[in-house]
Amino acid sequence: MQGTARNPPRQASGEEPRDSAYRSPPVSIGALNQDSPFDARFARPAPHGPGPRGAVRPVKLGPLTLPNRYFLAPLAGVSDWPFRLLCREMGASIAHTEMISSHGLVHGGDQTLSYLERPPDERPFAIQVFGHVAEVLAEGARVAVEKYGPIDAVDINMGCPVKKVCCHGAGAAMLKEPSVAERAVRKVVDAVAPLPVTVKLRAGWDEEHRNAPEIAKACEQGGAVAVGLHPRTRAQMYRGRADWALIAATKKAVKIGVWGSGDLFSAHDARRMLEETGADAARIARGACGYPWIFRELVALERGEEPPEVTAQEWRAMILRHVDLAVQEKQDRFRVVRPEGAPRPRPYRENGGHAHFELTADEAERAAVRELRKHLLWYTRGRRGGLAFRRLAPDLHTAADVRRALDRFFPEDGSVPAEVRDEPIQGPLTADD
Ligand SMILES: Cc1cc2nc3c(=O)[nH]c(=O)nc-3n(C[C@H](O)[C@H](O)[C@H](O)COP(=O)(O)O)c2cc1C
Repeated sequence: MQGTARNPPRQASGEEPRDSAYRSPPVSIGALNQDSPFDARFARPAPHGPGPRGAVRPVKLGPLTLPNRYFLAPLAGVSDWPFRLLCREMGASIAHTEMISSHGLVHGGDQTLSYLERPPDERPFAIQVFGHVAEVLAEGARVAVEKYGPIDAVDINMGCPVKKVCCHGAGAAMLKEPSVAERAVRKVVDAVAPLPVTVKLRAGWDEEHRNAPEIAKACEQGGAVAVGLHPRTRAQMYRGRADWALIAATKKAVKIGVWGSGDLFSAHDARRMLEETGADAARIARGACGYPWIFRELVALERGEEPPEVTAQEWRAMILRHVDLAVQEKQDRFRVVRPEGAPRPRPYRENGGHAHFELTADEAERAAVRELRKHLLWYTRGRRGGLAFRRLAPDLHTAADVRRALDRFFPEDGSVPAEVRDEPIQGPLTADD
């Protein structure tokens, strides 16, 4: 029998204990190209198994009460509405959009508006904005709320480490000066009141400036109701380990909520982080990629229940549904319509630019499958057949191609086909993956 996603079969021989990979993770700068997330997810011991039977703890977000403390983190290029929907169905109580340019919101760019697409019943709907000018941040958030609502909460990105964002003074560059952070928060709070405003932080700019608690206080002063903290410095990017002790220190420094993030690759990691830091919520990022079931596990563990195994059928159904939703997304199912009087976009490039609502049905399907390849590789990673699937991935163009590949390597009955029986379970990802 093929193993379940939580518990795949191990290699017959020559396999390092998975734990060892976790202790010294070969973390690459390609943040998702890590082996550690997947190893941790599958094979770490369960130091924090089901606790005593109990109710799931809700968490306040301004006037909102979220049913649990497990959120999908904002993930650029990943947390679009199909993935948010799947994670929410698995139990995530809120799922922010990826970071959206406030400048783009003010100027009405098509790509920018596509980040606001979502099913009408995605509530609460929470966006994340970034920008370097407090006034533009505020205006972008206001435009989003007033023209493209309903929106229930706004998060400000002060954590993005990418050069093209930081060099303008946006993202993690805002951590350099608490007064800049405070002013930006205050402007956004005023612009979208009474909506709750939160801020996503990193540990600080670099090793010499690990000022997250100080910045969190500035955000509190500015009117934020919570801060999310990914406790790596900007200089670290995604290298090294997330310093959960800084989450605990930040929690002690402020009265507002603190949401912890960083190296939450399995449900047990997230629960351990909450326990060790006193954080109010866990924002799951890479741990949900290819494994939306992490939210179901978290909720089950908090209820004191043993999380259900992910069956082969369920696993396949999730992937096929994800493909279907991605195609719908590319077919423009929830297109955001620019209201009367809203800024016009720049003209499209002759080759079609990025206006995906101009795609034919066939083009939309191919674009969806192409973009979904990364998810498909995350889903299949760590399973016998994953390597064969990976080799075939460049040839997957349509939903039917994906189904055929699943049928071939991961049959519905959970059996292991002869052609992959002797295949090793995929080794660590590298930056080249
Ligand atoms: C591919 C990728 C995209 C990300 N995009 C965003 C983003 O748009 N906004 C944001 O605040 N954080 C973003 N993050 C950071 C994550 O939300 C999270 O804080 C970080 O990955 C640490 O959590 P983890 O170690 O559990 O993955 C991104 C991370 C990754 C890997």
